[in-house]
Amino acid sequence: MKIGVTNLKGGVGKTTISQNLAVGLAHVGYKVCIVDTDRNQNSLAWVGERSDDLPNLLAVGLTDSKSLNKMVDQLDKDHDFIVIDGTPSLSEMSTRIILASDLLLIPILPSGHDIRSMQLFFERYEQAKEFRDDIPAYFFLNQFSDKVKLHQSTVELLKDFGIGMLKTKFRRRIAYAETSITGQGVYEYSDPKAKAEVVELTTEVLDIAKKLKFI
Ligand SMILES: Nc1ncnc2c1ncn2[C@@H]1O[C@H](COP(=O)(O)OP(=O)(O)OP(=O)(O)O)[C@@H](O)[C@H]1O
Ligand SMILES: [Mg+2]
Repeated sequence: MKIGVTNLKGGVGKTTISQNLAVGLAHVGYKVCIVDTDRNQNSLAWVGERSDDLPNLLAVGLTDSKSLNKMVDQLDKDHDFIVIDGTPSLSEMSTRIILASDLLLIPILPSGHDIRSMQLFFERYEQAKEFRDDIPAYFFLNQFSDKVKLHQSTVELLKDFGIGMLKTKFRRRIAYAETSITGQGVYEYSDPKAKAEVVELTTEVLDIAKKLKFI
């Protein structure tokens, strides 16, 4: 199954969510590959830092959008899950990720600015649906706090897009930033609350995968 983690906005948590979901799935026992489409190749470098005693993850760097489909389909044959870590640029790559994915996760930060820029992504998504109308997509709220009123109203505003929203949300936690340099997921780190969020995310994604009959 191919899971695209994408949003045209930079710094919303695409890489953080891709890495942590990949680790969560690997700990359930699935064979997982991350396809890193960002020019910074953060996920590629992160996998390089993983210690040998952690569940194995493959990472492949790919910045040529024309080869995405072929490469992802090839990798899909040998893996249970392909997680595509998206690029923030308004490029052809973004459309290709949308079209190549069996499931899209759209990370978003709960701010007015991020919701406004969502419109651009949404237009891309709608265009892509002219080619393939069954592209299941879910928003994923990152750095969320239910104590902040603005964050709660974000949830309401996002409903207008007619896209689902994952129940799981990541809070703002230092563990996410710290593990981005150690090659670990927070599942493998010292913050039990962060780990619980990743377990919840993994379970929710597996439920969706079951509903869509991928597992
Ligand atoms: N829930 C969180 N709590 C704390 N820090 C976070 C959280 N999510 C992401 N970060 C930090 O925010 C920064 C941006 O996150 P990340 O790199 O995952 O975003 P991105 O969408 O992949 O960015 P880009 O568009 O540049 O690829 C990183 O430094 C990351 O460690
Ligand atoms: Mg990134």
